[in-house]
Amino acid sequence: MAQDCFVVQPGKALHGTTTVPGDKSISHRAVFFGALASGISHVRGWLPAGDTEASLQTTRALGIEIERHSDTDLTIYGGTIRQPDAPLNLVNAGTGIRLLAGIMVGQPFESVLDGSEQLRRRPMNRVIDPLRMMGANIEGSSGCAPLVIKPARLHGIEYDLPVASAQVKSAVLLAGLFADGETVVRQPGPARDHTERMLAAMGANLVTQGDTVILKPDAALKPMDFTVPGDLSSAAFLIVAALILPGSEIRLTGVSLNPTRTGILDVLREMGADMTVTETGLEAGDPVGTIIARYSALKGVSVGGEVVVRMIDEFPIFMVAALFAEGQTMVRDAGELRVKETDRLAVMTEELRKFGAQITETEDGFIIVGRQRLNGATVYGHDDHRIAMSLVVAGLAAGGETTVLDARCAGDSFPGYAETLHRLGADVAVRELAGE
Ligand code: S3P
Repeated sequence: MAQDCFVVQPGKALHGTTTVPGDKSISHRAVFFGALASGISHVRGWLPAGDTEASLQTTRALGIEIERHSDTDLTIYGGTIRQPDAPLNLVNAGTGIRLLAGIMVGQPFESVLDGSEQLRRRPMNRVIDPLRMMGANIEGSSGCAPLVIKPARLHGIEYDLPVASAQVKSAVLLAGLFADGETVVRQPGPARDHTERMLAAMGANLVTQGDTVILKPDAALKPMDFTVPGDLSSAAFLIVAALILPGSEIRLTGVSLNPTRTGILDVLREMGADMTVTETGLEAGDPVGTIIARYSALKGVSVGGEVVVRMIDEFPIFMVAALFAEGQTMVRDAGELRVKETDRLAVMTEELRKFGAQITETEDGFIIVGRQRLNGATVYGHDDHRIAMSLVVAGLAAGGETTVLDARCAGDSFPGYAETLHRLGADVAVRELAGE
C-alpha cells in the first residue's frame, strides 16, 4: 500500500492569515444529532476528515439521508433511524463509537459497532458500564469493540463520571434521550460541553448546574442550521509553530473559543506567548474569534488539575512547545493521554527522542527542561493524527531535514495540514512512498 510521508525543511518563519477546518467534536455531533432531529438540518463548515467521514457514513448506514452540497456543507434529513444491514464501522473514531453507543442502546433493533484495529484496542468499559446501569443490553469483547447492542428498556440514572470524559458524558446523555425518567451526570472536571450546548439549542430539556448535567427525555429535537466553527485543536499546531519559529506572525480566523477547550491558550499565555485573541461572534452557541500568534520567548510552566481536561488533545503539540521554552515544564494529572489513539505520553517521548530531545516521562505526565536543540530525524506517526502533526512542527524547528512517516493519519482531523503550513510559508511537502 502506498504511504504518505511529510518531508519537512526547517528555517522558515510563518506569516499570513488562514482558517482551520471545522471542529471535529461538533462535526461528529452534527451528523448524529441531525439524524435524531425531527426535520431537516443544514450544517456548513463541517469537517471532511477521516474520523468524521466515518460518522457520516455510519449515519447513512442507519437510513438517514445526508445530501452533500460540497465537502463541508450538508443537509441532514433527520427522522427515524433503521437497523443497519452490516456492522457499523467507525474506523479510528473514538468519539464516533462512544457517542453512537449511547444512541444505539435506545433503538428497537440490534446493532454492532466496530472500527479499526487501533479503535479495537481502546477502552469501551467506560461507556458500557454506565449504559448497562441504565438497563442497556451492550456487550464488548473484553471491554473493547466490537460492541454488540440489543434492544432493551432504558431508565435514567444519576452517574458520577469516574474520569472527566466528554465522550462518556455524551453517551449517557444520548441514552438518556431514550430512557424513562431523568438522567443526571456529574463530572469531576470541565469536559467539553458540545453535547449539552447542541442538544439544548435543539430544544432538549437539558440544564447544566455547575458540574452537573440534568436531562429529561420529554422533548422532540428540533433540526439545526449553523456553521461549524474552526477547531482550536487543529489551530494549536499552527499556533505553537508560530510561537517557536523566529520571526513568525500568523492570524487564524473563525476559531472556536469554547471555554471548555481553551486550556492550551491559557497555558501558552502563562508561558509568555505573544498572542492576541479577539472574540468576533457566536456560532452554534460557541464563542468564535481570531487568534494572532507571534514568535515568543516561552518559559516553562507547571500544568495539572482542572486545565488538563480543557487541553487534553493538545499535549502532543504542547510537548513540542515545552522543548523550546526556557526552564522546566512539568505536566501531571494527564494519565488519560495513555488511552487516546495511542499512548500519547509514551509515543511522543519515543519519537521526540529521535530528534535528540531529553524528556522524562512520568506515570501521568512528563518533565521537559528547555531550551533544547533538535536535530532533524526520521520519525513515525503511529497512525495517530495528533502525533504526526506535532512531529511536523518539531521538524520545522529542528536543524536539518525531518521525515514523518505514516503521515496520512493527519487527515483524520486536519485535511490539508501540509498545504496550510505551506501557504503560511513553511517548507513541508507530502511525498508518497511506494510500499508493499
Ligand atoms: C472528545 C472528547 C475527548 C477528546 C476527543 C474528542 C469529544 O475525549 O480527547 O478527541 O468530542 O467528546 P474523552 O471524552 O475521552 O476525554
